[in-house]
Amino acid sequence: MQPTPRLDPDKLQHLVDDIVDEVQPLLEQGEVAAYIPELARVNPRQFGIAICTVDGAIITGGAATTPFSIQSISKVFALTLAMHLEGEPLWQRIGREPSGTPFNSLVQLEHENGIPRNPFINAGALVVTDVLLSHGASARQLLLDFVRERSGNSELSYNERVAQSEAECGHRNRALAHFLKSFGNLQHDADSVLDAYFYHCALEMSCTELARCALFLANAGLDPYDQARVTTANQTKYINSLLLTCGTYDAVGDFAYRVGLPGKSGVGGGIVAIMPGHFSICAWAPGLNRNGNSLAATAALDLLTTRTGISIF
Ligand code: DON
Repeated sequence: MQPTPRLDPDKLQHLVDDIVDEVQPLLEQGEVAAYIPELARVNPRQFGIAICTVDGAIITGGAATTPFSIQSISKVFALTLAMHLEGEPLWQRIGREPSGTPFNSLVQLEHENGIPRNPFINAGALVVTDVLLSHGASARQLLLDFVRERSGNSELSYNERVAQSEAECGHRNRALAHFLKSFGNLQHDADSVLDAYFYHCALEMSCTELARCALFLANAGLDPYDQARVTTANQTKYINSLLLTCGTYDAVGDFAYRVGLPGKSGVGGGIVAIMPGHFSICAWAPGLNRNGNSLAATAALDLLTTRTGISIF
């Protein structure tokens, strides 16, 4: 098999400009997440895209520097931290299989004795958050420090209103946390875990910051900006594999088919994807399809890999 050719940044910029134009009609479609009132207030006619290459190039289009609620994309960084802090024992408490159910579903948890299917559904992320609490007084601060360092923006912060809104409307998450607790799969009290989880979802970052933050996953675990070793090469493989099989809810098969890259979406409309050895990318548009993935951001990633012919396959 031929090695994937390096992308020419100028050509990539042209393609990104075309994609920004082509996705505009899609911004009229899709629905912003309505179950969290603060997210329902977001203007759906926004689109941004940013690509960070392992050689240091940054290609952007549209509202690439506009901060948005990263929501479940935080689960990637929380897992990265938990794998580093806890190591293999983490997998005694969380599975590594796609769930095939909505991200906030309760049904599987009872059948499977309180072991969530994977770290990217809510139940799995609650266990990951519980692990972080075992390794530091503040799981909120741990994640904030991580994204500030990896994005290069020390001002990144949580949106308090979104965090409050998550807490006020988080009935399913409360049910999941107490269910996990009843199976003995939370070591801390459910409220402490939920508090940190709600804040993690309420992080605000732009496409450029998210792509930069995830770049280590495209570079075998090494951040090319400061040469920091974030994950081992094997941990990087594990995280990317989980992103491919579990990162986009129960639409993971369709996303893999269309985009061909490991990726993680959030109900704020962001999607981060990884082309190992080449680049990380984040696309954002608040309108979601019925599976909770951004409609226009998925289309943008589809266009990018289809037109360049570059994907992990
Ligand atoms: O837990 C929630 O309801 C949301 N804040 C989760 C966000 C999300 O993007 C979907 N999750 N897997």
